[in-house]
Amino acid sequence: MKLQPRFVQEDRVAGTFRVHRDVFLSQEVLEAEKAEFFDKVWLYLGHESELDKPGDFIARQVGGRPIIFTKDRKGQIRALLNTCRHRGAQVCREDFGNAKIFTCFYHGWAYGTDGSLVSVPDADSYSSLDRESHGLVQPKLDSYSGFYFLSYNPDVEPLTDYLADAKELLDLVANQSESGMAVVKGAHHYSMKANWKLLMENSCDGYHGMSVHQTYVEMMMSLGMTPSLVKQSGDGAVVADYGINLGNGHATTWFPELGRPLISERGLELVAAHRERMVERLGEEYTRRALNTSRNTIVFPNLVIVDLNFGIQIRTMFPLSPTETAITGWQISPAEVGDELKGYRIDNALTFWGPGGLATPDDVEALEQCQIGFATSKEVPWSDISKGFGKPRPTTFDELQMRTFWRRWNFLVTGEQLPEEGESYAQLLGPISEKAKVSS
Ligand code: FES
Ligand SMILES: [Fe+2]
Repeated sequence: MKLQPRFVQEDRVAGTFRVHRDVFLSQEVLEAEKAEFFDKVWLYLGHESELDKPGDFIARQVGGRPIIFTKDRKGQIRALLNTCRHRGAQVCREDFGNAKIFTCFYHGWAYGTDGSLVSVPDADSYSSLDRESHGLVQPKLDSYSGFYFLSYNPDVEPLTDYLADAKELLDLVANQSESGMAVVKGAHHYSMKANWKLLMENSCDGYHGMSVHQTYVEMMMSLGMTPSLVKQSGDGAVVADYGINLGNGHATTWFPELGRPLISERGLELVAAHRERMVERLGEEYTRRALNTSRNTIVFPNLVIVDLNFGIQIRTMFPLSPTETAITGWQISPAEVGDELKGYRIDNALTFWGPGGLATPDDVEALEQCQIGFATSKEVPWSDISKGFGKPRPTTFDELQMRTFWRRWNFLVTGEQLPEEGESYAQLLGPISEKAKVSS
Protein backbone atom coordinates (compact mmCIF):
# COMPACT_ATOMS: atom_id res chain seq x y z
CA MET A 1 0.00 0.00 0.00
CA LYS A 2 1.26 3.45 -0.91
CA LEU A 3 2.28 5.81 1.89
CA GLN A 4 1.48 9.51 2.22
CA PRO A 5 4.03 11.67 0.36
CA ARG A 6 5.93 13.20 3.25
CA PHE A 7 9.44 11.81 2.83
CA VAL A 8 11.01 13.81 0.01
CA GLN A 9 10.85 17.60 -0.26
CA GLU A 10 12.39 19.71 -2.96
CA ASP A 11 12.37 23.42 -3.72
CA ARG A 12 13.55 24.08 -7.26
CA VAL A 13 13.76 27.83 -6.77
CA ALA A 14 15.88 27.59 -3.64
CA GLY A 15 17.75 24.55 -5.00
CA THR A 16 17.12 22.44 -1.92
CA PHE A 17 16.34 18.74 -1.70
CA ARG A 18 15.84 16.80 1.51
CA VAL A 19 14.85 13.33 2.62
CA HIS A 20 13.10 12.55 5.88
CA ARG A 21 15.12 10.23 8.11
CA ASP A 22 12.07 8.06 8.82
CA VAL A 23 12.92 6.36 5.51
CA PHE A 24 15.97 4.85 7.23
CA LEU A 25 14.17 3.80 10.40
CA SER A 26 10.58 2.83 9.79
CA GLN A 27 9.25 -0.72 9.52
CA GLU A 28 6.20 0.67 7.71
CA VAL A 29 8.47 2.20 5.07
CA LEU A 30 10.30 -1.10 4.65
CA GLU A 31 7.01 -2.96 4.15
CA ALA A 32 5.97 -0.38 1.55
CA GLU A 33 9.32 -0.77 -0.26
CA LYS A 34 8.77 -4.52 -0.45
CA ALA A 35 5.18 -4.23 -1.64
CA GLU A 36 5.64 -1.30 -4.01
CA PHE A 37 8.88 -2.19 -5.74
CA PHE A 38 10.88 -5.18 -4.51
CA ASP A 39 7.86 -7.37 -5.30
CA LYS A 40 7.12 -5.57 -8.56
CA VAL A 41 10.16 -4.43 -10.53
CA TRP A 42 13.13 -6.22 -12.12
CA LEU A 43 15.82 -7.35 -9.65
CA TYR A 44 19.35 -8.44 -10.52
CA LEU A 45 19.83 -12.21 -10.31
CA GLY A 46 23.24 -12.99 -11.80
CA HIS A 47 25.49 -13.05 -14.83
CA GLU A 48 25.36 -15.65 -17.58
CA SER A 49 29.04 -16.52 -17.07
CA GLU A 50 28.34 -17.86 -13.58
CA LEU A 51 26.75 -20.99 -15.06
CA ASP A 52 29.12 -22.90 -17.34
CA LYS A 53 27.67 -26.34 -17.96
CA PRO A 54 24.16 -27.77 -18.07
CA GLY A 55 23.18 -28.68 -14.52
CA ASP A 56 25.28 -25.89 -12.95
CA PHE A 57 23.39 -24.06 -10.24
CA ILE A 58 23.90 -21.31 -7.67
CA ALA A 59 21.54 -20.80 -4.73
CA ARG A 60 21.10 -17.18 -3.74
CA GLN A 61 18.66 -14.74 -2.20
CA VAL A 62 16.92 -12.28 -4.50
CA GLY A 63 14.34 -9.84 -3.20
CA GLY A 64 14.13 -11.77 0.07
CA ARG A 65 13.36 -15.12 -1.58
CA PRO A 66 15.61 -18.15 -1.95
CA ILE A 67 16.29 -18.72 -5.66
CA ILE A 68 18.09 -21.40 -7.63
CA PHE A 69 19.92 -19.76 -10.56
CA THR A 70 20.53 -22.68 -12.86
CA LYS A 71 21.32 -23.87 -16.36
CA ASP A 72 19.02 -26.79 -17.08
CA ARG A 73 20.07 -30.01 -18.80
CA LYS A 74 19.16 -28.48 -22.17
CA GLY A 75 21.29 -25.39 -21.51
CA GLN A 76 18.51 -22.93 -20.73
CA ILE A 77 19.17 -20.49 -17.88
CA ARG A 78 16.38 -20.43 -15.31
CA ALA A 79 15.37 -18.97 -11.97
CA LEU A 80 13.56 -21.46 -9.73
CA LEU A 81 11.96 -20.58 -6.42
CA ASN A 82 13.78 -22.74 -3.91
CA THR A 83 10.79 -24.13 -2.06
CA CYS A 84 9.28 -27.57 -2.33
CA ARG A 85 5.75 -27.71 -3.69
CA HIS A 86 4.95 -30.31 -1.03
CA ARG A 87 5.39 -28.54 2.30
CA GLY A 88 7.94 -25.87 1.69
CA ALA A 89 11.50 -27.01 2.43
CA GLN A 90 14.28 -25.68 0.24
CA VAL A 91 14.97 -28.31 -2.41
CA CYS A 92 18.54 -27.09 -2.90
CA ARG A 93 20.66 -26.68 0.23
CA GLU A 94 24.05 -26.30 -1.44
CA ASP A 95 25.43 -22.86 -2.32
CA PHE A 96 26.51 -24.00 -5.80
CA GLY A 97 27.32 -27.10 -7.79
CA ASN A 98 26.14 -29.26 -10.63
CA ALA A 99 22.98 -31.33 -10.33
CA LYS A 100 20.91 -33.76 -12.34
CA ILE A 101 17.95 -33.29 -10.04
CA PHE A 102 17.08 -31.34 -6.92
CA THR A 103 15.74 -33.77 -4.31
CA CYS A 104 13.90 -32.33 -1.34
CA PHE A 105 15.44 -33.92 1.73
CA TYR A 106 12.23 -33.73 3.79
CA HIS A 107 10.05 -36.32 2.01
CA GLY A 108 12.00 -36.86 -1.18
CA TRP A 109 10.08 -35.07 -3.91
CA ALA A 110 12.51 -34.61 -6.80
CA TYR A 111 12.67 -31.91 -9.45
CA GLY A 112 14.54 -31.63 -12.73
CA THR A 113 16.94 -28.75 -13.35
CA ASP A 114 14.16 -27.22 -15.44
CA GLY A 115 11.98 -27.20 -12.32
CA SER A 116 9.65 -30.03 -13.37
CA LEU A 117 8.47 -32.44 -10.70
CA VAL A 118 9.97 -35.78 -11.73
CA SER A 119 9.32 -38.07 -8.81
CA VAL A 120 7.21 -38.35 -5.67
CA PRO A 121 7.82 -41.16 -3.16
CA ASP A 122 4.72 -43.28 -2.49
CA ALA A 123 2.86 -41.38 -5.19
CA ASP A 124 0.13 -44.04 -5.32
CA SER A 125 -1.23 -42.77 -2.00
CA TYR A 126 -2.45 -39.58 -3.66
CA SER A 127 -5.92 -39.78 -5.16
CA SER A 128 -4.91 -37.04 -7.58
CA LEU A 129 -1.56 -35.30 -7.85
CA ASP A 130 -0.98 -33.32 -11.00
CA ARG A 131 2.79 -33.36 -11.49
CA GLU A 132 2.59 -30.92 -14.39
CA SER A 133 1.31 -28.14 -12.16
CA HIS A 134 3.58 -28.97 -9.21
CA GLY A 135 6.95 -28.02 -10.63
CA LEU A 136 9.12 -25.41 -8.92
CA VAL A 137 7.62 -21.99 -9.46
CA GLN A 138 9.57 -19.74 -11.82
CA PRO A 139 9.46 -15.96 -11.59
CA LYS A 140 9.74 -13.89 -14.73
CA LEU A 141 13.26 -13.95 -16.10
CA ASP A 142 15.03 -11.92 -18.77
CA SER A 143 18.54 -10.80 -19.58
CA TYR A 144 20.35 -7.88 -21.11
CA SER A 145 23.95 -8.08 -22.35
CA GLY A 146 24.55 -11.15 -20.20
CA PHE A 147 23.02 -9.71 -17.00
CA TYR A 148 20.03 -11.72 -15.76
CA PHE A 149 17.14 -10.08 -13.92
CA LEU A 150 13.99 -11.59 -12.43
CA SER A 151 10.68 -10.17 -11.34
CA TYR A 152 7.99 -11.53 -9.02
CA ASN A 153 5.44 -9.48 -10.95
CA PRO A 154 3.97 -11.38 -13.91
CA ASP A 155 2.87 -8.07 -15.46
CA VAL A 156 6.22 -6.31 -15.12
CA GLU A 157 7.21 -4.04 -18.01
CA PRO A 158 9.78 -5.33 -20.52
CA LEU A 159 13.30 -5.38 -19.07
CA THR A 160 14.69 -3.19 -21.85
CA ASP A 161 12.11 -0.49 -21.03
CA TYR A 162 12.80 -0.79 -17.32
CA LEU A 163 16.55 -0.41 -17.71
CA ALA A 164 16.17 2.79 -19.77
CA ASP A 165 19.62 4.36 -20.34
CA ALA A 166 21.20 1.99 -17.82
CA LYS A 167 21.38 -0.34 -20.84
CA GLU A 168 24.20 1.81 -22.21
CA LEU A 169 26.15 1.35 -18.99
CA LEU A 170 25.65 -2.43 -19.04
CA ASP A 171 26.82 -2.44 -22.65
CA LEU A 172 29.93 -0.49 -21.69
CA VAL A 173 30.80 -3.40 -19.41
CA ALA A 174 29.75 -6.21 -21.77
CA ASN A 175 31.56 -4.75 -24.77
CA GLN A 176 34.92 -4.70 -22.99
CA SER A 177 35.39 -8.33 -23.94
CA GLU A 178 35.79 -10.07 -27.27
CA SER A 179 34.92 -13.46 -25.86
CA GLY A 180 32.45 -12.53 -23.11
CA MET A 181 32.67 -10.99 -19.66
CA ALA A 182 33.20 -13.53 -16.89
CA VAL A 183 32.34 -13.27 -13.21
CA VAL A 184 35.17 -14.44 -10.97
CA LYS A 185 33.91 -17.53 -9.13
CA GLY A 186 32.74 -16.88 -5.62
CA ALA A 187 31.34 -13.78 -3.96
CA HIS A 188 31.79 -11.52 -0.97
CA HIS A 189 28.89 -11.71 1.48
CA TYR A 190 28.76 -9.19 4.29
CA SER A 191 26.30 -7.08 6.22
CA MET A 192 26.09 -3.67 7.81
CA LYS A 193 24.05 -2.16 10.60
CA ALA A 194 22.58 0.56 8.42
CA ASN A 195 19.66 1.04 6.08
CA TRP A 196 20.11 -0.42 2.58
CA LYS A 197 19.43 2.89 0.81
CA LEU A 198 22.48 4.46 2.44
CA LEU A 199 24.62 2.04 0.43
CA MET A 200 22.82 2.88 -2.80
CA GLU A 201 23.59 6.55 -2.13
CA ASN A 202 27.18 5.80 -1.15
CA SER A 203 27.80 3.65 -4.22
CA CYS A 204 27.42 6.62 -6.58
CA ASP A 205 28.76 9.32 -4.27
CA GLY A 206 31.90 11.04 -5.54
CA TYR A 207 31.72 13.59 -2.73
CA HIS A 208 32.90 11.22 -0.01
CA GLY A 209 35.86 9.82 -1.94
CA MET A 210 38.65 12.05 -0.71
CA SER A 211 37.44 12.20 2.88
CA VAL A 212 36.43 8.60 3.60
CA HIS A 213 39.05 6.98 1.33
CA GLN A 214 41.98 9.25 2.09
CA THR A 215 44.07 6.41 3.48
CA TYR A 216 43.54 4.34 0.37
CA VAL A 217 44.31 7.24 -1.97
CA GLU A 218 47.50 8.10 -0.08
CA MET A 219 48.64 4.50 -0.10
CA MET A 220 48.07 4.13 -3.84
CA MET A 221 49.84 7.41 -4.57
CA SER A 222 52.80 6.34 -2.46
CA LEU A 223 52.99 3.24 -4.67
CA GLY A 224 52.99 5.32 -7.85
CA MET A 225 49.35 5.12 -8.95
CA THR A 226 46.97 8.05 -9.23
CA PRO A 227 43.45 6.89 -8.44
CA SER A 228 40.87 8.66 -10.57
CA LEU A 229 39.33 10.19 -7.43
CA VAL A 230 42.27 12.55 -7.24
CA LYS A 231 41.20 14.49 -10.31
CA GLN A 232 38.43 16.09 -8.32
CA SER A 233 40.81 17.42 -5.70
CA GLY A 234 41.03 20.67 -7.63
CA ASP A 235 44.00 20.41 -9.96
CA GLY A 236 42.06 22.45 -12.49
CA ALA A 237 42.15 19.86 -15.28
CA VAL A 238 39.31 20.39 -17.74
CA VAL A 239 37.64 17.07 -18.19
CA ALA A 240 34.10 15.84 -18.65
CA ASP A 241 32.81 14.86 -15.24
CA TYR A 242 29.11 14.27 -14.80
CA GLY A 243 26.42 12.86 -12.62
CA ILE A 244 23.94 11.37 -15.10
CA ASN A 245 20.24 10.58 -14.73
CA LEU A 246 19.73 7.32 -16.66
CA GLY A 247 15.95 7.27 -16.22
CA ASN A 248 13.65 5.17 -13.98
CA GLY A 249 15.73 5.93 -10.89
CA HIS A 250 18.98 4.65 -12.42
CA ALA A 251 22.00 6.95 -12.39
CA THR A 252 25.72 7.01 -12.85
CA THR A 253 28.79 9.03 -12.16
CA TRP A 254 31.07 9.57 -15.12
CA PHE A 255 34.63 10.62 -14.56
CA PRO A 256 37.93 10.26 -16.38
CA GLU A 257 40.40 7.60 -15.43
CA LEU A 258 43.80 9.09 -14.78
CA GLY A 259 47.12 7.65 -13.75
CA ARG A 260 48.53 4.24 -14.49
CA PRO A 261 47.62 0.92 -12.97
CA LEU A 262 50.15 -0.86 -10.75
CA ILE A 263 51.18 -3.53 -13.21
CA SER A 264 54.38 -4.51 -14.96
CA GLU A 265 55.53 -3.12 -18.31
CA ARG A 266 54.38 -6.39 -19.84
CA GLY A 267 50.97 -5.91 -18.21
CA LEU A 268 50.74 -2.41 -19.65
CA GLU A 269 51.49 -3.82 -23.10
CA LEU A 270 48.69 -6.34 -22.67
CA VAL A 271 46.28 -3.57 -21.63
CA ALA A 272 47.31 -1.52 -24.69
CA ALA A 273 46.87 -4.52 -27.00
CA HIS A 274 43.43 -5.24 -25.55
CA ARG A 275 42.49 -1.61 -26.08
CA GLU A 276 43.75 -1.70 -29.66
CA ARG A 277 41.60 -4.74 -30.44
CA MET A 278 38.58 -2.98 -28.96
CA VAL A 279 39.23 0.06 -31.15
CA GLU A 280 39.23 -2.26 -34.16
CA ARG A 281 35.94 -3.80 -33.08
CA LEU A 282 34.06 -0.74 -31.89
CA GLY A 283 35.93 2.40 -32.86
CA GLU A 284 38.02 4.88 -30.87
CA GLU A 285 35.17 6.91 -29.45
CA TYR A 286 33.29 3.99 -27.95
CA THR A 287 36.52 2.49 -26.65
CA ARG A 288 37.36 5.75 -24.91
CA ARG A 289 33.95 5.70 -23.26
CA ALA A 290 34.37 2.15 -22.09
CA LEU A 291 38.03 2.12 -21.06
CA ASN A 292 39.02 5.70 -20.31
CA THR A 293 36.26 6.67 -17.93
CA SER A 294 35.23 5.39 -14.53
CA ARG A 295 31.59 4.85 -13.74
CA ASN A 296 29.67 4.17 -10.55
CA THR A 297 26.25 3.07 -11.75
CA ILE A 298 23.16 2.37 -9.68
CA VAL A 299 20.23 0.44 -11.15
CA PHE A 300 17.09 0.93 -9.12
CA PRO A 301 16.38 -0.50 -6.65
CA ASN A 302 19.43 -2.45 -5.48
CA LEU A 303 22.06 -3.12 -8.14
CA VAL A 304 25.40 -1.32 -8.28
CA ILE A 305 28.06 -1.67 -10.96
CA VAL A 306 31.31 0.12 -10.21
CA ASP A 307 33.66 0.14 -13.19
CA LEU A 308 36.95 1.65 -12.11
CA ASN A 309 38.94 -0.03 -14.85
CA PHE A 310 41.28 -1.65 -12.35
CA GLY A 311 38.30 -3.86 -11.68
CA ILE A 312 34.55 -4.04 -12.10
CA GLN A 313 32.44 -4.70 -9.04
CA ILE A 314 28.83 -5.92 -9.17
CA ARG A 315 26.99 -5.41 -5.89
CA THR A 316 23.48 -6.06 -4.65
CA MET A 317 21.90 -5.49 -1.29
CA PHE A 318 18.68 -6.30 0.51
CA PRO A 319 17.23 -5.07 3.80
CA LEU A 320 17.21 -7.58 6.66
CA SER A 321 15.41 -4.90 8.70
CA PRO A 322 15.18 -1.10 8.47
CA THR A 323 18.58 -0.89 10.16
CA GLU A 324 20.43 -3.91 8.78
CA THR A 325 21.45 -4.82 5.24
CA ALA A 326 22.83 -7.96 3.58
CA ILE A 327 25.28 -7.23 0.75
CA THR A 328 26.83 -9.38 -1.97
CA GLY A 329 29.72 -8.37 -4.22
CA TRP A 330 31.21 -10.00 -7.31
CA GLN A 331 34.05 -9.15 -9.67
CA ILE A 332 33.60 -9.36 -13.43
CA SER A 333 36.33 -9.09 -16.04
CA PRO A 334 36.92 -9.88 -19.71
CA ALA A 335 37.27 -13.64 -20.03
CA GLU A 336 40.31 -13.33 -22.28
CA VAL A 337 42.57 -11.31 -19.96
CA GLY A 338 45.61 -13.31 -18.91
CA ASP A 339 46.69 -14.37 -15.45
CA GLU A 340 48.59 -11.15 -14.62
CA LEU A 341 45.70 -8.82 -15.39
CA LYS A 342 43.16 -11.14 -13.84
CA GLY A 343 45.32 -11.40 -10.73
CA TYR A 344 45.60 -7.62 -10.60
CA ARG A 345 41.83 -7.25 -10.78
CA ILE A 346 41.23 -9.90 -8.13
CA ASP A 347 43.85 -8.25 -5.92
CA ASN A 348 41.98 -4.96 -6.22
CA ALA A 349 38.71 -6.70 -5.49
CA LEU A 350 40.19 -7.90 -2.21
CA THR A 351 42.18 -4.84 -1.21
CA PHE A 352 39.69 -2.18 -2.29
CA TRP A 353 36.14 -3.56 -2.43
CA GLY A 354 36.37 -6.61 -0.21
CA PRO A 355 34.79 -6.64 3.25
CA GLY A 356 38.35 -6.60 4.63
CA GLY A 357 39.68 -4.20 2.01
CA LEU A 358 40.66 -0.55 2.23
CA ALA A 359 37.42 0.95 0.89
CA THR A 360 34.44 -1.09 2.01
CA PRO A 361 35.06 -1.06 5.79
CA ASP A 362 35.45 2.73 5.61
CA ASP A 363 32.19 3.08 3.69
CA VAL A 364 30.39 0.73 6.08
CA GLU A 365 31.72 2.74 9.03
CA ALA A 366 30.41 5.98 7.47
CA LEU A 367 26.97 4.47 6.85
CA GLU A 368 26.73 2.92 10.32
CA GLN A 369 27.69 6.32 11.72
CA CYS A 370 24.76 7.84 9.80
CA GLN A 371 22.44 5.19 11.18
CA ILE A 372 23.56 5.92 14.74
CA GLY A 373 23.02 9.63 14.07
CA PHE A 374 19.44 8.92 12.99
CA ALA A 375 18.53 8.20 16.63
CA THR A 376 18.11 11.99 16.76
CA SER A 377 15.47 11.93 14.01
CA LYS A 378 12.83 13.60 16.19
CA GLU A 379 15.12 16.58 16.73
CA VAL A 380 16.93 16.41 13.35
CA PRO A 381 14.40 14.89 10.95
CA TRP A 382 15.86 15.72 7.53
CA SER A 383 18.96 14.74 5.52
CA ASP A 384 20.20 17.27 2.97
CA ILE A 385 20.83 16.07 -0.59
CA SER A 386 20.92 19.43 -2.37
CA LYS A 387 24.50 19.50 -3.62
CA GLY A 388 24.59 20.67 -7.24
CA PHE A 389 20.80 21.07 -7.46
CA GLY A 390 20.18 23.81 -10.01
CA LYS A 391 23.65 23.62 -11.58
CA PRO A 392 23.53 23.35 -15.38
CA ARG A 393 25.69 20.21 -15.27
CA PRO A 394 26.08 18.55 -11.88
CA THR A 395 29.31 16.59 -11.50
CA THR A 396 30.27 13.34 -9.79
CA PHE A 397 30.93 15.45 -6.69
CA ASP A 398 27.29 16.59 -6.67
CA GLU A 399 24.21 14.69 -5.60
CA LEU A 400 22.10 14.45 -8.75
CA GLN A 401 22.64 10.67 -8.68
CA MET A 402 21.03 10.33 -5.25
CA ARG A 403 18.20 12.70 -6.10
CA THR A 404 17.45 10.58 -9.17
CA PHE A 405 17.22 7.50 -6.95
CA TRP A 406 15.08 9.28 -4.38
CA ARG A 407 12.58 10.68 -6.89
CA ARG A 408 11.96 7.19 -8.22
CA TRP A 409 11.76 5.78 -4.69
CA ASN A 410 9.32 8.51 -3.73
CA PHE A 411 7.15 7.89 -6.79
CA LEU A 412 6.92 4.14 -6.18
CA VAL A 413 6.38 4.37 -2.41
CA THR A 414 3.98 7.33 -2.36
CA GLY A 415 2.74 7.90 -5.93
CA GLU A 416 4.05 11.46 -5.87
CA GLN A 417 5.85 12.33 -9.11
CA LEU A 418 8.51 15.01 -8.78
CA PRO A 419 9.98 16.49 -11.97
CA GLU A 420 13.15 14.87 -13.26
CA GLU A 421 16.52 16.60 -13.26
CA GLY A 422 19.54 16.52 -15.55
CA GLU A 423 20.40 15.94 -19.17
CA SER A 424 20.16 12.47 -20.64
CA TYR A 425 23.10 10.20 -21.41
CA ALA A 426 22.81 11.00 -25.13
CA GLN A 427 22.59 14.74 -24.51
CA LEU A 428 25.74 14.70 -22.41
CA LEU A 429 27.80 12.20 -24.35
CA GLY A 430 26.25 12.08 -27.80
CA PRO A 431 24.72 9.02 -29.46
CA ILE A 432 26.66 5.80 -29.45
CA SER A 433 28.15 4.71 -32.76
CA GLU A 434 26.35 2.30 -35.07
CA LYS A 435 29.32 -0.04 -34.79
CA ALA A 436 28.97 -0.23 -31.03
CA LYS A 437 25.22 -0.69 -31.29
CA VAL A 438 25.58 -3.69 -33.57
CA SER A 439 27.82 -5.43 -31.12
CA SER A 440 25.75 -4.82 -27.99
S1 FES B 1 8.59 -30.67 1.89
FE1 FES B 1 9.65 -31.39 0.17
S2 FES B 1 9.08 -33.47 0.00
FE2 FES B 1 7.95 -32.72 1.69
FE1 LIG C 1 33.31 4.72 -0.76
